Amino acid sequence: MTLIFAHRGYSAKYPENTMRAFREAEKAGADGIELDVQFSKDGEIVVIHDDKVDRTTNGTGFVKDYTFDELRKLDAGYKHKTLLKKEPIPSIKEVLEWLKTNQLQCNIEIKSSLESYMKIEAPLIGLIREYGLSERIIISSFNHYSIVYCHRIAPEIEIAPLYAEGLFMPWIYSESIKAKGMHPNHKVAPNEIIKAAEEYGIQVRPYTVNKEKDMRRLFEIGCSAFITDDPVKALKIRKQY
Ligand code: G3P
Ligand code: CA
Repeated sequence: MTLIFAHRGYSAKYPENTMRAFREAEKAGADGIELDVQFSKDGEIVVIHDDKVDRTTNGTGFVKDYTFDELRKLDAGYKHKTLLKKEPIPSIKEVLEWLKTNQLQCNIEIKSSLESYMKIEAPLIGLIREYGLSERIIISSFNHYSIVYCHRIAPEIEIAPLYAEGLFMPWIYSESIKAKGMHPNHKVAPNEIIKAAEEYGIQVRPYTVNKEKDMRRLFEIGCSAFITDDPVKALKIRKQY
């Protein structure tokens, strides 16, 4: 069965990378969630996509210049006028705590900046181990040095390279860095590449798959999983297979 990962939570309908979006993804029946992490000024690992808070919150400036307490005062749901209450930026601890209450898989994407690279990996792994969630986490990044480093310090946690170019035999590359999966942009993942990778034993989880025809293509070839903003739409289509 092709698993469905909710990209930044159920972000088609709820504010991305918030507990609300993660809870709604679970309620909808998604198999997993995807989220992005980076450091606050005082070293808390927080869940937010951009290096600045401007697009997703009512604040301005770089995440790295805010302490965790300051970040918590921002509203990550301010664009969603129909939501009645404020949605804070979650800490990864809050998400891990919540993951203990369910069976979801979680793809943590490390947004490595020059400041955080080789700094965020070990504390993140420490928390994953503390919460006993190594089996359900996949760490990915566009910075492959970052995931290779994760594998070296925590070989029990799965890693997967993110990429957006048409690589030659990406399953061989993934194997070479000890990744059991790979996360291509779906536009650079034609059926032949997906099938060859899966036959080789590398799980493919393309992102960000939102159109019905693209979802159908992946269900039809039995791709391991895909990452989508709209898990409800994906689940509805999956029922037809
Ligand atoms: O993990 C897949 C996808 O989230 C990568 O791109 O920019 O949405 O974080 P982005
Ligand atoms: Ca991401």
